[in-house]
Amino acid sequence: VTTPLLDRLGRPVEDLRVSVTDRCNLRCRYCMPREVFGPDHAFLEREELLSFEELTRLARVFVRLGVRKLRLTGGEPLLRRDLPELVSRLASIDGLEDLALTTNGVLLRRFAPALAAAGLRRITVSLDALDDATFRQLADTNAPVGTVLDGIAAAREAGLDPVKVNCVLQRGVNDDQVEDLAAWARDTGVTLRFIEFMDVGTTNGWLRDRMVPAAEVAERIAARWPIEPVDPSHPGEVAERFRYRDGAGEVGIIASVSRPFCGTCTRARLSAVGELYTCLFAASGTDLRALVRAGADDDALADAVRAVWSARTDRASELRAEAGLTGPRVEMSYIGG
Ligand code: GTP
Ligand code: 5AD
Ligand code: SF4
Ligand code: SF4
Repeated sequence: VTTPLLDRLGRPVEDLRVSVTDRCNLRCRYCMPREVFGPDHAFLEREELLSFEELTRLARVFVRLGVRKLRLTGGEPLLRRDLPELVSRLASIDGLEDLALTTNGVLLRRFAPALAAAGLRRITVSLDALDDATFRQLADTNAPVGTVLDGIAAAREAGLDPVKVNCVLQRGVNDDQVEDLAAWARDTGVTLRFIEFMDVGTTNGWLRDRMVPAAEVAERIAARWPIEPVDPSHPGEVAERFRYRDGAGEVGIIASVSRPFCGTCTRARLSAVGELYTCLFAASGTDLRALVRAGADDDALADAVRAVWSARTDRASELRAEAGLTGPRVEMSYIGG
């Protein structure tokens, strides 16, 4: 890296979130409702997806420009064939300090050992309810919640550390799960983070009243187990962290709606077809795959990324707080949250 690549608001590009497929084996109501993502939905064809070679090459270019942290997402990333092979390619990139993956956990028992062997060190599992009926209803699936819990156990057995669990709370849907999930996480030794429900995409029927504010979640947890705030582990960490005073680990809250963190947002996103998005709420991305497939060399790719990032002004969550969000935006399952 020569001079750091900054956007128009002075934010460097430090994290890259990469979607490796737009498919998912669940149909969470707030993300891929079956009415929209049904049997007739046209998912991406295999040849449209970035190949492992293309993806690794782009990742290297981003690392050259300052990226230190890479997260694989989906859809559901474990549906991408030979994912451990991709992990091992990415794990060997010089200068990449952190390689993580976000999964719904359904296939984790099967893949955790291979992922760990390939060089993945940590993992984040999405889990919105511990109660089986609530889980199945929310994820619109017949798979029992036990499959995900077993996947989490498998990740721990494989040595992935930390194992984090993300829970999106919706009032009247799963907000009764807060204490049960927290108790389970304390016993299990996973780091639980509650996420405020966001108005990403256009199909999730977002209503502000459905969002459970971070302050309320913290109060409810503190009423049961005393907690104290912990300093961020790095600048721009999205989760506000709390330590249980009795020593049973930590819990986090991601207040993307009530306390937006755009000011320190260093995240770039790459869709499964190689479009660069500079915000979770962007309407469109920049096609890097076209450049790669037209034979551009690494310098040309770096120039393209530099041009996009240096023009970046995104701060959608702050704007929502000020004036509300309007206009078209990408679906979350397309760029992986
Ligand atoms: P760690 O590296 O483990 O701290 O993970 P992380 O918190 O950066 O990433 P993770 O994928 O666990 O993020 C948790 C959730 O926070 C995401 O799924 C989103 O719901 C939300 N989130 C993460 N990044 C952004 C962002 O840039 N903007 C907004 N609005 N929400 C985000
Ligand atoms: N609001 C907040 N988080 C969401 N996720 C998906 N949709 C939303 C939303 N509307 C979360 C998933 C997963 C991560 C990738 O994004 O639950 O943890
Ligand atoms: Fe799949 Fe995750 Fe979306 Fe649920 S939130 S449908 S698990 S991609
Ligand atoms: Fe970053 Fe956009 Fe999220 Fe703000 S809304 S934190 S700019 S991704």
